[in-house]
Amino acid sequence: MPNVANCHPHISFDGKLSIIHNGIIENYRELKRELIEQGVSFKSDTDTEVVAHLLAKSYHGDLLQAMHAVLKRLHGAYALAVCHQEQPDRIVATRMGSPLVIGIGEGENFIASDVPALLKYTRQIVFLEEGGLAQVTREKVELFDADLKPMPFNAVTTNLTLDAAEKEGYEHFMLKEIHEQPHAIAETLRGRVDGEHVDLSELNLDADVLRGVKRIAVLACGTSLYSGMVGKYLLERFTRIPTETWSASEFRYADPVIEPDMLVIAVSQSGETADTLEALRIVKQQGAKAIAICNVMGSSIPRACDATLYTRAGPEIGVASTKAYTTQLVAFVMLAVGLGRMLGRTDEPTEHKLVDGLKQLPAQVQALLDEDIVAVKRCAKRYKDVFNFMYIGRHFNYPTAMEGALKLKEISYIHAEGYAGGEMKHGPLALVEGSFPTIAVAPQGRTREKLISNVQEIKARKGVVVMVSTHGDEEARELADYLIEIPACEEELSPVLAVVPLQLLAYYTATQLGRDVDKPRNLAKSVTVE
Ligand code: M6R
Repeated sequence: MPNVANCHPHISFDGKLSIIHNGIIENYRELKRELIEQGVSFKSDTDTEVVAHLLAKSYHGDLLQAMHAVLKRLHGAYALAVCHQEQPDRIVATRMGSPLVIGIGEGENFIASDVPALLKYTRQIVFLEEGGLAQVTREKVELFDADLKPMPFNAVTTNLTLDAAEKEGYEHFMLKEIHEQPHAIAETLRGRVDGEHVDLSELNLDADVLRGVKRIAVLACGTSLYSGMVGKYLLERFTRIPTETWSASEFRYADPVIEPDMLVIAVSQSGETADTLEALRIVKQQGAKAIAICNVMGSSIPRACDATLYTRAGPEIGVASTKAYTTQLVAFVMLAVGLGRMLGRTDEPTEHKLVDGLKQLPAQVQALLDEDIVAVKRCAKRYKDVFNFMYIGRHFNYPTAMEGALKLKEISYIHAEGYAGGEMKHGPLALVEGSFPTIAVAPQGRTREKLISNVQEIKARKGVVVMVSTHGDEEARELADYLIEIPACEEELSPVLAVVPLQLLAYYTATQLGRDVDKPRNLAKSVTVE
């Protein structure tokens, strides 16, 4: 429960030791019971306070030794940083399952949960390994393995910059990040589609190993899961390898069938999502190969994979993921087409067409943003007070509907559902009545006509429809109450364009409602605990 007593840092019973913690100590109840029996009284309801008291009991003049002793008793996920009154010049830190990075400065050193927090002070970063310990003073950083053996290390210079982590005149990081998408997509493409081909040589994939892959599993959470759903359609279309997309939090407890001829693709903006990391650990233990699609260099998920396609979207600060999503989609197109060609299952004209389309995306997203989407703002104003929204799409844009609904609910707190258009008749159509709003994502492509039929069914029941359609779609113009037009493109690329107005719709709805757009209630940017 959020209150002052539960805030970090927590102080040990002797008042000498303070601790901050990101994560969860799963066996804290049992440890707490034990400490209470020994006469320790607790000031908060947190699991963290248990660690403070345990450390104080194990401390005999050496904080590092005390931490080493206490770690043996902790189960769960943690990044911990501890100070002791008797050694005020040092911080001892450790991590297991939660991220922790160390910044190397001049005459000063830092620890933090992620790199953007350090950019104001330094770009020299050390990533602490799982189970490792660090002793940080103003002059020196020392790393140790789980047995307290000193570990040599090298700092890396992060490619993130402070400019990129500031708002630069935008009211919110989310709006800035929406507007950064043309540049972010260009960065994802840089050097990977220079000619008429997709170039994935950076992944060092072995064609023989690839030919042996019988099944692909995409693992991710939240917005990254929806890009993974588009990824499934793309991978199956271009590689013809059966592909399944899993919510990593389901996968890890589903007793999944894992075979060595399976290729896993882990998708994550932060590279630190606990469920995705754990799902990855399970598949790696059983010998499957894994590729990451990730934004944050050097983070835990890429380090656990055999190869990584970095999205290079730059720091994403807003809790609602925007540019990370569109760049993941672009990465999936390149990956699917590239693997398809290596397998001889994607022909040259198809590859050329897609590469051409990819190259146009930055300008097309820019054009969409420059249009100052009037219909989006009108719609946000008109419908900000409704309690429910329905989003529908099909095939490549079914995940777009899910992502649009997630964006709206997470930052405006309006309930929204994303559905496959074909499912309407199986239940959700019952919700439609006068003025019930549905967002229909219906760009050009194989399923456009089917979605138009869904819209007609909604209109016949007096529902209100906002349509996202390709420029010049006259039928959509006639049907829609609000029309949002996106540039013409290959249908495989349409999710990249179609989601942009949905991001803006969520943004303008949330700002009109006065919500805390960049930090919505109850949510964190990186979900580093289960
Ligand atoms: O860093 P990741 O991509 O692994 O994060 C996954 C989700 O936590 C994340 O996408 C979340 O759903 C966002 N808040 C959505 O906007």
